[in-house]
Amino acid sequence: MNILLIGSGGREHALAWKIAQSPLVEKFYAMPGNPGIAEYAECVKNISIDDNAAIVKFAQEKNINLVVVGPEAPLVNGLVDALEVAGIKSFGCKKDAAQLEGSKIFAKNLMKKYNIPTAKFEVFDNPDAAKNYIRSEGAPIVIKADGLAAGKGVIVAQNLDDALNAVDEMKNFGAAGSKIVIEEFMDGEEASILAFTDGKTIIPMIAAQDHKRLNDNDEGVNTGGMGAYAPAPVVTAEVAKLAEETILKPIIAALNAEKIIYRGCLYAGLMIVDGVPKVVEFNARFGDPETQAVLPLLDSDLVEIMDACATGNLSDKKISWSDKSAVCVVLASGGYPKSYKKNLPIEGLDASKNLGAIIFHAGTTEVDGKILTSGGRVLGVTVTAENIKAAIEKVYKCVDAIKFENMHYRKDIAAKALKN
Ligand code: AMP
Ligand code: GLY
Repeated sequence: MNILLIGSGGREHALAWKIAQSPLVEKFYAMPGNPGIAEYAECVKNISIDDNAAIVKFAQEKNINLVVVGPEAPLVNGLVDALEVAGIKSFGCKKDAAQLEGSKIFAKNLMKKYNIPTAKFEVFDNPDAAKNYIRSEGAPIVIKADGLAAGKGVIVAQNLDDALNAVDEMKNFGAAGSKIVIEEFMDGEEASILAFTDGKTIIPMIAAQDHKRLNDNDEGVNTGGMGAYAPAPVVTAEVAKLAEETILKPIIAALNAEKIIYRGCLYAGLMIVDGVPKVVEFNARFGDPETQAVLPLLDSDLVEIMDACATGNLSDKKISWSDKSAVCVVLASGGYPKSYKKNLPIEGLDASKNLGAIIFHAGTTEVDGKILTSGGRVLGVTVTAENIKAAIEKVYKCVDAIKFENMHYRKDIAAKALKN
């Protein structure tokens, strides 16, 4: 098969790493890719991933059999719809299904209609009415912009003043913040369950846990994710079963009842409250960095699974997983998620690999054969080991081998797993 992968982050490098292991792959392209992905795929830099028509044309010219879409923006932008019109298969959902991530109001209303467990909520387009509701509910309370806001559209307000200010801050998100969701605060432990689906069958992957806050002990601001590990012990066999029966299967059935076929990866962000999983959010794609911890544990051929999702044949597939544990530590530029320096040389990548790391590039660039920093999250350093404790020890040895100016990372990734 000829494959085209869309995207350039750590998630896409993890996808590329696993796709490249499949004997089914003939030609492999990435758009735009990154210096890590370039080890396995030909990177195409002259086409924007927002340009559906140009991507379709490229896929036709190169006889692409499967397009794998990494990030949410092209999904929401209808790339998979455009490819389907041209008769090209994709791993990724169409625009109507991507609303599950693209509009929090769509997702919340669907969950309400079909009794899928999630926080109680109300929708507002009038700031004064929103503030009155907040005053009547009290804090802590959660304020969310309806649309995509690059992961920044959610404010968890611990007191009334912060909650009322959050309503005014939603203006900063433009159209995405013109409608807002105000949600009950759920007190529990978070986990991410990614699942493969062909629109009928849904098969969960090994559960993972992200670390959203910038600093150790879950302090500091929210980021795209500073590290992840899998499996997450907070998702016990009972929690996993509840998640499958009360959330994953019902959401696919709910979408079908609304005449929407969801194919690709469905990401359920969960809050486990007293052993009961409830939905924090759905994403229409693989999680980042979760994917960097989950895919190294997948024993089966990813391309075969993706093709089965794209063609509606997932019910025939058996998916097997390693019984090891994986930990991924994100190395970020000092200053992230605000401003940071770029183009700083990175040392020690080979030394880290020799210690057993799988290194995923997230924000790097290659200049004259040297790898430099180019983004906020620069690298994901993943290891697998017999258990979480061994994986934690191993991953930090691998991290110690890597250096760049102002490198920032959390030193407590997966520590929570040892507590559970
Ligand atoms: P989201 O972008 O919806 O995943 O929200 C970002 C983060 O805000 C989540 O990962 C949670 O940590 C937190 N969050 C969102 N909604 C709630 C809620 N209803 N209760 C508690 N925390 C929440
Ligand atoms: N790790 C959070 C996300 O992918 O949205």
